[in-house]
Amino acid sequence: NKKLNIQQTDILVIGSGIAGLTYALKMADQFPDKKVLVMTKAAADETNTKYAQGGIAVVNDWENDSFEKHIEDTLIAGDGLCNEEVVEIVVKEGPERVNEIIDWGARFDKEKDGDYKRGMEGGHSESRILHYKDVTGKEMERALIDAVKKQKNIEFVQHCFVVDLITQHHLGYLVNKSTPDVECFGVYVLNLATNKIEKILSKITLLATGGNGQVYRTTTNPSIATGDGVAMVYRAKGRVENMEFIQFHPTALYEYGTSGHAFLITEAVRGDGGILRNKHGEAFMEKYDERKDLAPRDIVARAIDSEMKINGTEHVWLDCRHFDKEKFTEHFPNIFEKCLSIGIDISKDMIPVAPAAHYSCGGIKTDEWGQSSIKNLYACGECSSTGLHGANRLASNSLLEAMVFAHRCFLDSTKILAESFTSSFVNWQNIEKEIPDWNAGGTSEPKEMILITQSLKELQLLMSDYVGIVRNDIRLQRAMRRLDLLWEETEKLYSSSTVSPQLLELRNMITVGYLIVKGATFRKESRGLHFNTDYPDKSWLVQNIVL
Ligand code: FAD
Ligand code: SIN
Repeated sequence: NKKLNIQQTDILVIGSGIAGLTYALKMADQFPDKKVLVMTKAAADETNTKYAQGGIAVVNDWENDSFEKHIEDTLIAGDGLCNEEVVEIVVKEGPERVNEIIDWGARFDKEKDGDYKRGMEGGHSESRILHYKDVTGKEMERALIDAVKKQKNIEFVQHCFVVDLITQHHLGYLVNKSTPDVECFGVYVLNLATNKIEKILSKITLLATGGNGQVYRTTTNPSIATGDGVAMVYRAKGRVENMEFIQFHPTALYEYGTSGHAFLITEAVRGDGGILRNKHGEAFMEKYDERKDLAPRDIVARAIDSEMKINGTEHVWLDCRHFDKEKFTEHFPNIFEKCLSIGIDISKDMIPVAPAAHYSCGGIKTDEWGQSSIKNLYACGECSSTGLHGANRLASNSLLEAMVFAHRCFLDSTKILAESFTSSFVNWQNIEKEIPDWNAGGTSEPKEMILITQSLKELQLLMSDYVGIVRNDIRLQRAMRRLDLLWEETEKLYSSSTVSPQLLELRNMITVGYLIVKGATFRKESRGLHFNTDYPDKSWLVQNIVL
């Protein structure tokens, strides 16, 4: 039960997935005399990164593939909304970043001749996905954590829940959406060892808090994915954008009677020849798109949703019975074991699959250096919106984006640290005294956890039923009305209760739900992952929705 012994740092990193750790390693290496503080609300490796299966999309076959092809695939998937400059940056800087993680110790599968094995996934015109069996993310996270342990100037603090960003608002200045110069001075954090909120002051803060899949009833994301970073930035009056573009992965394992965290069946299985079939055994994808099972995710997920509705089923089937069993287990040992553990032998049985919330394409709006709209605050990885993904992320582009942007945030941060640090609102020498401690006055322990758990269930249900793969105006209006009530009740609870991770996450998820519905309501068209039956076509006005 220890108080944190740090109150001030030069560099604060929130999140220990690929984005946060890549940045931390680079900053620590560049500034050996400065301390880099990495904080995470859970165990060190409990991240979306750890669960990544398919791999990392990167041009590495210089004979058949090219930057131009990867750029084009990304733009097609993004359905008109990608920032072309950013796409080019990520694709072209990708190979160098992947070499760095290989140098830090991450392994990728190789052929007998020593060349890397290249996987195929939906929307890619070439096989370019580097992977480590079907546990690529686990391997990358392992390598990053091992590298971090060797850096003496990285302090890694687990089980510390960041509650809010500290800005001039906490010094009594008026901050609203039109304030042009919101500045970040650090964070308030709930130390789960003491249950007390402490303040951590920092010159540079990087948010790498990951995705928000937990806003939905069924998701491939682990329980940490509650959109905390996005909610914090929105509360601090920073900009977030394109929140309506929630990617549903077409093939999460369907397990009868379960909800919450769903096991993923990687798209690489379809890349290797897996076929989707409906209740009648029909390979239905050819009805929907000429690329069949390897069409971009938005198209495959909508096709599955439509087949499930037509046939009144809760899942479709993924047929792998024609695979060479030995080859399957070599590439997908984790999936093979998981299926076997629930009585599915993939050489004899088809795998029941259904779409599940998977990835947030929008998030904290950044420029091409990862700077958010708030001064001294960077955002990187899934919590950010850099312009790469547009209306739909191309498979396996997110690990790549996280690494490329962690590097760019690092380059930009070095400039800030090289200059003498000034602020319009605080004297940095005296900042510890100027920034107030957290005020927990007037709060008491919540009497009933049911007030939190039931609201969470309601939120997940309404988001899944009204704001899922297919939307329309009435559903969105209903969702907003229900969110308003949940928000009102939860804010009341928040102002009168001592905070807990459950309450903080619920509050953040309600905010994220609100932002998704708001974005979806403003988008009067169907594009990429956002499909509204009241506006089934694309609008001529191609725009990001910034909130
Ligand atoms: P994460 O890895 O999710 O890390 C977030 C960190 O922030 C965690 O440490 C968390 O504890 C911390 N955090 C969050 N909130 C707080 C808070 N309030 N206070 C303190 N800490 C906080 N992408 C690909 O490119 N290829 C793939 O093959 C692939 N497969 C995937 C498979 C699955 C099952 C899933 C879920 C995702 C997959 N993705 C894949 C997407 C990709 O894994 C993620 O987008 C990426 O790993 C996100 O990395 P990140 O560093 O941004 O966030
Ligand atoms: C998968 O392996 O299918 C997930 C890949 C991704 O989300 O990019």
